[in-house]
Amino acid sequence: MKNPEHVQRVISALRKEGTDKLQVISDFDMTLSRFGFNGRRCPTSHNILDNSRVISEEGRKKLKDLLQYYYPIEIDLNQPMEEKRPLMVEWWTKAHNLLLEQKILKSDIAKIVRESEVMLRDGANTFFDQLHQHNIPLFIFSAGVGDVLEEVLRQVEVFHPNINVVANYMDFDDKGVLRRFKEPLIHTYNKNNTVLEKTEHFQLLSSRTNIILLGDSLGDLSMADGVPNVENVLTVGFLNDKVDERRGKYRDAYDIVLEKDETLDVVNGILCYILGDLN
Ligand code: TMP
Ligand code: MG
Repeated sequence: MKNPEHVQRVISALRKEGTDKLQVISDFDMTLSRFGFNGRRCPTSHNILDNSRVISEEGRKKLKDLLQYYYPIEIDLNQPMEEKRPLMVEWWTKAHNLLLEQKILKSDIAKIVRESEVMLRDGANTFFDQLHQHNIPLFIFSAGVGDVLEEVLRQVEVFHPNINVVANYMDFDDKGVLRRFKEPLIHTYNKNNTVLEKTEHFQLLSSRTNIILLGDSLGDLSMADGVPNVENVLTVGFLNDKVDERRGKYRDAYDIVLEKDETLDVVNGILCYILGDLN
């Protein structure tokens, strides 16, 4: 924490003002899901598809090449966002076009997820269940694949009715074959109001003026931009990769930075305190 007094002040305000005013806004990949396990990288929602049996050898290689080229750009803090934005559109567009070539079936998604190595962070069940029990809306704002991340949540039985997801959703033809990705395209650096314009999500939650925001990219910090009349915001950032070189910028940007922490324990502790489950 760069400013522990500020963090303390915000957490006290969130607790004092109660659950009726709170909403949680979270990224999905590498924030709710694990970055690594036993020294191996865990898949993002895109990688779940990329690594599956339904993708041809050649398609998998091309998708991996894209990841190797664009991921360093995504996390490079020396390149300005304005320069990175068109490159992210390029990455997502190329990756989605490759996935479209693979004729993925809607009916295969559950099996693809089941056979994948995706894992949610330790403590995820407590996190989802606490928010559900206290009727706190959880908005998952993801540049990943909506159909896949929903299935991940369903399979671990945490896709509760308090959750609303905005992500890149697939569109299937009447035979259940993937034919396109729905608009608008969401990538790491346009997770803001520009892609939420057609949804009334935040307007419907206008009394929820206190926010806990969770992310792993600096692009995630704009996820709450569309919330009207914000009062208190607590931002928690997971710093998963290139920790030493990115620590300074993350501490400047996020209220709390968790370095290589594969758990949701800190967030769960804060929620427990705010929700009054702990005195
Ligand atoms: P998030 O917004 O839920 O974190 O999802 C975006 C992540 O997905 C981002 O960190 C980059 C990653 N990604 C892949 O792993 N493969 C891909 O093909 C694309 C387009 C993105
Ligand atoms: Mg992420």
